[in-house]
Amino acid sequence: MATVVVTGTQWGDEGKGKIVDYLAQQADVVVRFQGGSNAGHTVTVDGEEYKLRLMPSGILYKGSLCVVGNGVAFDPMIMLEEMDGLAARGIDLSGIRISNRAHVVLPYHRLMDGIGDEARGKGKIGTTKRGIGPCYMDRDNRIGIRVCDLIDKEEFAKRLKENLALKNKELKALYDHEPLDYDEILKEYEGYADRLRPYVCDTIALLNEEVAAGKKILFEGAQATMLDIDYGTYPYVTASHPISGGVAVGAGVAPKKIDKVVGIVKAYCTRVGEGPFPTEQLNAIGDKIREEGHEYGVVTKRPRRTGWLDACVVRYAGLISGIDYMAVTRLDILDSFDEIKMCVGYKYKGELLKEIPASLKVLAQVEPVYETFPGWKTSITKCRSYEELPEKAKAYLTRMAEVTGIALGIVSVGPNRDETIVVAKDIF
Ligand code: GDP
Ligand code: IMO
Ligand code: MG
Repeated sequence: MATVVVTGTQWGDEGKGKIVDYLAQQADVVVRFQGGSNAGHTVTVDGEEYKLRLMPSGILYKGSLCVVGNGVAFDPMIMLEEMDGLAARGIDLSGIRISNRAHVVLPYHRLMDGIGDEARGKGKIGTTKRGIGPCYMDRDNRIGIRVCDLIDKEEFAKRLKENLALKNKELKALYDHEPLDYDEILKEYEGYADRLRPYVCDTIALLNEEVAAGKKILFEGAQATMLDIDYGTYPYVTASHPISGGVAVGAGVAPKKIDKVVGIVKAYCTRVGEGPFPTEQLNAIGDKIREEGHEYGVVTKRPRRTGWLDACVVRYAGLISGIDYMAVTRLDILDSFDEIKMCVGYKYKGELLKEIPASLKVLAQVEPVYETFPGWKTSITKCRSYEELPEKAKAYLTRMAEVTGIALGIVSVGPNRDETIVVAKDIF
């Protein structure tokens, strides 16, 4: 298979970075197609950790192309920070390609994300404050500034002037905030443009050429299904489409060109930010998951909310994204649990629900129906084949595949590259 999409099936932080890096061993190109620096993807190689935000997780392989697609909310400041950090660690950056159509995150986006979300008071989303929502708002309002404008000195100066006049009016009227300085932003962004210009190209043409040449392409989703703007727990969602369909709009590669979809499933559930989370454990179990799993955000350092695996959510993700295989990550985090639960259905007012309810009012009130599994109570980090896994771990995985209707493709038993068990040999 030549084109594979990796997508998160829960609320993010499933371990997409780890699996993308693993699969990228065989890929020629790795592509981000949505989201922006709200993502925090961790890749660990020989115990060395790399935290990537805008950079595709294929960057650690010399010679692979790493594409930031047109659907990404592109923050040049963060991109350059990442590039400098990676270069200092000896990573080759020559494979980076940035779409000339990606929308640029500007200082007023970050600022308005922060104060705008706080202004919602109790109804706040708990965004990452990276300006992602406001950047996409400008795109949809048709006033956004794109990378092709950023690298055109005259055009950028003009577009920034128009936009900043509007944003300063909004800042004053809505939040009584002092205006941002035009010259300062102009100078800052001209500096970014000069450094990034060599990496900018038409990534749509590039990717379609690579597809036509039969190259192996990995599309790296950020966030996840339950954070998708249309399919997630709206309004507690991000502003893009992390589902596999997001590839068509965010990379310009047609749906019929996608061969396989891999859904990343954390062996339990976490969520950062506000919004319903039916299997959340606000108790000693939840605390144990957080401590065993070091569940603290990469981007914002917030403690993640924790709970049992919700197989209803994964099944839903499977339907929407057409997931062929699950990659189950962090199974090792459950090593020391006496028993493990999996939500296999929801009850609402005594009735079993067949679908994920659209209404948050309903979702907040559903009662998870759990099945309980005995823990395996042994370390699985050294297991390198499915056969080596304890029977009790296999029983948990088998049931997961049954309830979700998705075949098991990969089991991850640790953050490192080699701590990976490949069950399906035909992913690429
Ligand atoms: P992403 O946003 O989906 O890429 O996930 P994050 O990087 O935010 O969070 C996943 C965390 O789990 C990272 O610290 C990874 O290094 C780590 N990780 C990934 N797979 C495994 C695994 O199988 N076991 C353990 N213990 N850690 C893992
Ligand atoms: P990765 O790619 C987990 C959450 C935020 C907030 C909501 C909206 O690492 O899995 P935003 O800043 O996007 O407007 O915030 O979405 N969120 C994530 N949660 N992992 C992520 O990315 C996330 N990106 C955004 O916490 O609830
Ligand atoms: Mg993350």
